[in-house]
Amino acid sequence: MGEKILVTGGAGYIGSHCVLELIEAGYHPVVIDNFSNAVQGEGVVAESIRRIEKLLNTTIEFHQLDLLDRPGLENLFKKHTFAAVMHFAGLKAVGESVEQPLRYYKVNLTAAMNLIEVMQTNNVRNLVFSSSATVYGDPTRLPIDEQHPVGGCTNPYGKTKFFIEEIIKDQCKAEKDWNAVLLRYFNPIGAHSSGLIGEDPQGIPNNLLPYVAQVAVGRRQCLSVFGDDYDTVDGTGVRDYIHVVDLSKGHIAALKKLKENCGCKVYNLGTGKGYSVLQVVKGMEKASGKEIPYKIAPRRGGDVASCYADPKLAEEELGWKAEFDMERMCADLWRWQSMNPTGFTKSTTS
Ligand code: WQD
Repeated sequence: MGEKILVTGGAGYIGSHCVLELIEAGYHPVVIDNFSNAVQGEGVVAESIRRIEKLLNTTIEFHQLDLLDRPGLENLFKKHTFAAVMHFAGLKAVGESVEQPLRYYKVNLTAAMNLIEVMQTNNVRNLVFSSSATVYGDPTRLPIDEQHPVGGCTNPYGKTKFFIEEIIKDQCKAEKDWNAVLLRYFNPIGAHSSGLIGEDPQGIPNNLLPYVAQVAVGRRQCLSVFGDDYDTVDGTGVRDYIHVVDLSKGHIAALKKLKENCGCKVYNLGTGKGYSVLQVVKGMEKASGKEIPYKIAPRRGGDVASCYADPKLAEEELGWKAEFDMERMCADLWRWQSMNPTGFTKSTTS
């Protein structure tokens, strides 16, 4: 049995893909999730976890648990000796965070501090944190490397990621035997090649790719392109899209880095390549064989023109590099969406 890794938010999009990679890499993940964003299958096991069990012919220990439930968290740490924790759980809708800042600060910061305190009292001192390129705010230079200034986040969601990074950095300064790897994601997209797990946003997708995929599969009529007057190749927003499986493998590499007693380290997880909205639409039309109708809409508040990573440091220090290109990302996304037109929930209509 491999090292036990606690995965918070492990039923969600990124978390579930990391659970799959952890098992494939010989680790023993213990998953907690409060289902705030994942779709609940019958009974208590999230459908995403159930499907990974089927795919890998294994069983995964899963607890429906909220990090705000401090006693519940304490009990879990009494039951298990974790080699490390991967922390994904948290509220993550940028727009919603602007409308509900107090809820986002309360939930995301309390959850993180509960987790860190319970880790501390149970002598678990290895942490991988799911951070975000959003901590860089509006880039002052491109590509963005880890030395780029942080804290210029334009929304409360991004600020919670920045604050949690700072909490972890200070914890590692205060207690030298702590090791943490903060992973700043660019734009994770796509799905595992099986098509069994993938992104299943509840309600109207905020992000581009789930929305485009839902247009392709006929769940949505038309994509609104938020602005075509940016200073980019075709006027639409440019982002660094990274395959969620590449991203997940970056977490396995981060676990290995913890073993070097690395202290607190920060890495961008991106491809270093930017694609515009219209280039992505073309990629999804090719992958799906469907036309993706779109209309040009006003810019979305808080959006930047271009954002893409300098991924060199992760390659040098983690020995990790994204492998999958846009064609593969679109093909894997389309397989997930076309096999699961209504995501994890079974459609009630035929
Ligand atoms: C990408 C591009 C939009 C939707 C967000 C969060 C970030 C991270 C990743 C969590 C932009 C355009 C989008 C649509 C569009 N999440 N777009 N029509 O904004 O780069 O990053 O997700 O960590 O924190 O901010 O991703 O997918 O929302 O937008 O034209 O219906 O697609 O303007 O140029 P973003 P996105």
